[in-house]
Amino acid sequence: MLCIKGGKLVTPAGINERDLWIDGEKIVSGEGRGGRIEVYDASGCLVFPGFIDAHTHLEMDNGVTVTADDFPSGSAAALAGGTTCILDFATQDRGGALRDALDRWFRLAEGRSYCDFAFHIAVTDWNPSTKGELADIVRRGVTSFKVYMAYDNLRLTDEQMLELLKATRELGCITGVHCELGDEVNRRVREELSAGHMDVKYHPLSRPNEVEGRAVRRLMELARESRSPVWVVHLSTREGLAEIRAAREKGVAVLVETCPQYLTLTEEVYIKPDFEAAKYVCSPPIRSREDKSELWKAIKGGEVDIISTDHCSYNFAGQKELGRTDFSKIPNGLPGVEHRPALIWTYGVCRGKITPVRMAALLSENPARAFGIYPRKGSLEPGSDADIVIWDPQFRGTLTAVKQLQKVDYSPWEGFALEGRARAVFLRGELCAENGRIIKGPCGRYVPRRATWRKH
Ligand code: URP
Ligand code: ZN
Ligand code: ZN
Repeated sequence: MLCIKGGKLVTPAGINERDLWIDGEKIVSGEGRGGRIEVYDASGCLVFPGFIDAHTHLEMDNGVTVTADDFPSGSAAALAGGTTCILDFATQDRGGALRDALDRWFRLAEGRSYCDFAFHIAVTDWNPSTKGELADIVRRGVTSFKVYMAYDNLRLTDEQMLELLKATRELGCITGVHCELGDEVNRRVREELSAGHMDVKYHPLSRPNEVEGRAVRRLMELARESRSPVWVVHLSTREGLAEIRAAREKGVAVLVETCPQYLTLTEEVYIKPDFEAAKYVCSPPIRSREDKSELWKAIKGGEVDIISTDHCSYNFAGQKELGRTDFSKIPNGLPGVEHRPALIWTYGVCRGKITPVRMAALLSENPARAFGIYPRKGSLEPGSDADIVIWDPQFRGTLTAVKQLQKVDYSPWEGFALEGRARAVFLRGELCAENGRIIKGPCGRYVPRRATWRKH
């Protein structure tokens, strides 16, 4: 038995100081069967349920290059920062089966992951056999899917998306959508390049707010027509938010996700000199100060449900550099899986934007509920997995790539102050990370999920 003493437990009912008991892999209500008791002193710390990152891309091949982080490095970085479970995207090959994508991701993760893991499937090729596979995929514990509206090698047509939404609804699943209008993006990129605009600063100009806003509107229409729940991944704009608000008023079930980069950075990153700006190339791009503050307001007001990272890391050297003379060739994506809890703590909780209870909801309970793993994950109640983060609010430090476990050669938050960190991370009852370092593993296990989105 393990007893975590002296910490302040962060629960949906508030923060309370009490002992937390663990027997083997589970949280229990008290001393129970007795025997030897180990005590962990959490005095001065908060005790959070293990954080869940519902949006990562590890070992993902974008057709030109493979993400810098693989399962060992990405999951170790996650765990060290306080994330005990990740949901990664198994991406279907065009012409390939969903089951092959899932098999491949199992091979990548099993025995190599430091934190627990689950999968969504990104559907890139919709045909009758894809549809026929869905029920089997759900039986294997994958109960959410993703569609891209942009990226020519990944996207589906609206018609295909509608069919997918109708089919996943029947199975009680939710579908996430990358909301950017692909044709609009392609046209704007073409126009910039043909005007000789090759620099990084043209990346955000080719993907303005309205390209997201109009894509969200289209998705809301498809969600309404299919009566399927949808998940707007990485929301970045006021325009997108307004469309979601309007759709919710009409009864559309929308799960809204944003990411630390849209809450802590602003578009000025794209005028950094010496190609430094390439470090911030992601889609959707980093937005204005106004968008950032509207997203924080939406978080405060309960309109955003989850904060994930969209961790998709590419090294500056050799990977981001692929686009030195043509911004459209810079691989899209940012790292973040290691630092999401500390960034949201520092720039959310410590700046008075959200409470620790709300942080626990956005980073743990809500993703667990949305993706069918609650209360096994996302809870400190008896019966839940003993995934526990002992959070040290006294820690003061500076984020730097030199110290990170992510296997990528930079951080978008280099030099940012941090005002708290995970002092200890328990994965199913085992102390696996301390003060940003891994001390045990890889012990991560697959977490099969339930289909929890009832038809409405
Ligand atoms: O730029 C990004 N976000 N890359 C990762 C893949 C995606 O769009 O989610
Ligand atoms: Zn995306
Ligand atoms: Zn993504």
